[in-house]
Amino acid sequence: MQFEIVSATLFLQIALLVAVVCATVLIVAFSVFNGISPMPSSRKALAAVLELIKEADTGGSIVDLGSGWGTLCFAVAAAFPDREVCGYENSPVPYIYCLLINALVRRRNLRFVRRNFYAVPLHEAGLVLCYLYSGAMVRLKSKFENELRAGTVVVSNTFAVPLWKPRGVVELRDMYRSKTYLYVTGNAARNL
Ligand SMILES: C[S@@+](CC[C@H](N)C(=O)[O-])C[C@H]1O[C@@H](n2cnc3c(N)ncnc32)[C@H](O)[C@@H]1O
Repeated sequence: MQFEIVSATLFLQIALLVAVVCATVLIVAFSVFNGISPMPSSRKALAAVLELIKEADTGGSIVDLGSGWGTLCFAVAAAFPDREVCGYENSPVPYIYCLLINALVRRRNLRFVRRNFYAVPLHEAGLVLCYLYSGAMVRLKSKFENELRAGTVVVSNTFAVPLWKPRGVVELRDMYRSKTYLYVTGNAARNL
C-alpha cells in the first residue's frame, strides 16, 4: 500500500516535471519563431493604454494583436464591458492559460483566438492594441493601411508605427522612458 502511494506520488511528480519542461520548450520555440516572448505589458504601460483609449470611443471591436498572457485583454475587457474584445495569440501555452483564466473569470465580452494575427482581417476593428517589436510594426504598417477603416484607433505600447504621426503619446516613468502611442487612421495616419 505504502509502495503504491510512493509510486503514484513519483509518477505525478514526473508528469508535472514533463509538463513544465514541454511548456517551457513550447514557449521558447514560439518566442524564437515570433521574434518576441509573451512578456506582459507593465502596470504603468497598462495604465497608459487605458488612459489613452478612454477618450477613443470608436465603436467596433477591440483586438489585441499578440495577447500573450492576456494582461491587456483582461484589463480592457473589464474597462469596456460593452465592447467585444478579442486577443489573437499563436503561442499555445499563453493561449491555453488565457482560455483557463477566462473560464474562471467569465468575461463574456472577451475571447481568445489561436491564430497568426498577420492572417486576421482587421476591417471590422474599431481599436487595435499591440505590444510587439520594431520589425512587427514595419510589417503591420502596410496591413493597417490596407485594412483598417478610417477612424480606427491603434494603440501601441513602446513601438511606434513607422512614419505615422501619433495623435497622442504617453511617456512612462520607467527606467527606459518607454512611450505608448495612439494613432487614428484616416486623416492622422495618412498625413505621413
Ligand atoms: C510582448 S507580448 C504582449 C502581450 C500582451 N499584448 C500584453 O501587452 O501584455 C507579444 C505577444 O505577441 C505574440 N505574437 C507575436 N507574433 C505573433 C503572430 N504573428 N501571431 C500571433 N501572436 C503573435 C507573442 O507570442 C507574444 O505573446
